[in-house]
Amino acid sequence: MEIAFILSREHQTLPKAELKGVLEAENIPFKIKNYFNGLSLLKIPENCLNRLNSVEKRVSLTHEIFRVIIDTDTDNLISSIEKYQWKDLIDSDYAVRVKKMEKSQDINTLELEREIGGIIKDQIGDRVIVNLENPSTFIRTVILDEKVLMGPRLFKIPKKHFFDLKPHKRPFFYPGSMSPKLARSMVNLTRIKRGEKLLDPFCGTGGILIEAGIIGARLVGTDIDPKMVSGTIENLQHCNINDYEVFRADVRKLNLPHKVDAVVTDPPYGISASTRGEESRELCGEALLSLEHLIKDSGRICLATPHYMDIQGLVEGTKFEIIEQHHIRMHKSLTRVISVMKKS
Ligand SMILES: C[S@@+](CC[C@H](N)C(=O)[O-])C[C@H]1O[C@@H](n2cnc3c(N)ncnc32)[C@H](O)[C@@H]1O
Repeated sequence: MEIAFILSREHQTLPKAELKGVLEAENIPFKIKNYFNGLSLLKIPENCLNRLNSVEKRVSLTHEIFRVIIDTDTDNLISSIEKYQWKDLIDSDYAVRVKKMEKSQDINTLELEREIGGIIKDQIGDRVIVNLENPSTFIRTVILDEKVLMGPRLFKIPKKHFFDLKPHKRPFFYPGSMSPKLARSMVNLTRIKRGEKLLDPFCGTGGILIEAGIIGARLVGTDIDPKMVSGTIENLQHCNINDYEVFRADVRKLNLPHKVDAVVTDPPYGISASTRGEESRELCGEALLSLEHLIKDSGRICLATPHYMDIQGLVEGTKFEIIEQHHIRMHKSLTRVISVMKKS
């Protein structure tokens, strides 16, 4: 069956990559039918439909998931809607919502919603009512250029958590912590599964560990600064996350009794004017060498580095290879490079 995922458009490649990572982590088979700007259209076996709630619980850069029952173009939309047997889908109350993917499209969404709603009502009659507040069937219609996709919404991804847990709202705050949304998507890129172990060796205030803990990973966090270690513990406890080992360690000398399944980390970028980040580059290189012994052979690392650090050059001296990269422009003078790597 065809499932459409409406994606965040805050980044070109990361939302699609995160979704792919989550589907793979949750063992949900899929085939890519089409990619549009802001929407992925995938084929998913019918018997996996009830497992999509595990995707809903993990993704940070997807907004909505709906099942496609009408796949047409703007010229044939009305006739397709007239032909569809709406009584098979709607029992009591419903709402139709239209979303234009390009603002420039010359379509009045409100008028179209009314027109579609009217056709459905004429077909089924008084047995069903329109309920715009809290409908039992929410029919999503998406207009992408000429193409139109339509069907019942399965999930609207809740985003409240990502606002409630912004770094400055946690009990321990220190500048430089990454946003929960980016931290969650980095965790998802590693394909970590519930119950597996994830390490952040530069854990800072624990932002990455919180997101991994929420999706059920067992956590290992280390930092050279004891203030960060106690702050991370305070933040994890605030989020009711209990399955963690957090302690003080220099990543270059870190030893663990068991190898971890994934590493997600955001090393310090400090650019001192004289060295232009040379110390951070050196530290990152040494961290990667240390991680060779700490991660399982099948494990993935997801690393955030600044654009001026030659990450490809650093990886070349290690057992890892970069398999995926995303560039996120933070401001005029900083682009974050998100690299996913595994042992080659
Ligand atoms: C950019 S911050 C991490 C921010 C973190 N992602 C967060 O959300 O708060 C980098 C951290 O690396 C730590 N650090 C610096 N050198 C280190 C080393 N050699 N070993 C371990 N941690 C180190 C710093 O104390 C700092 O907390």
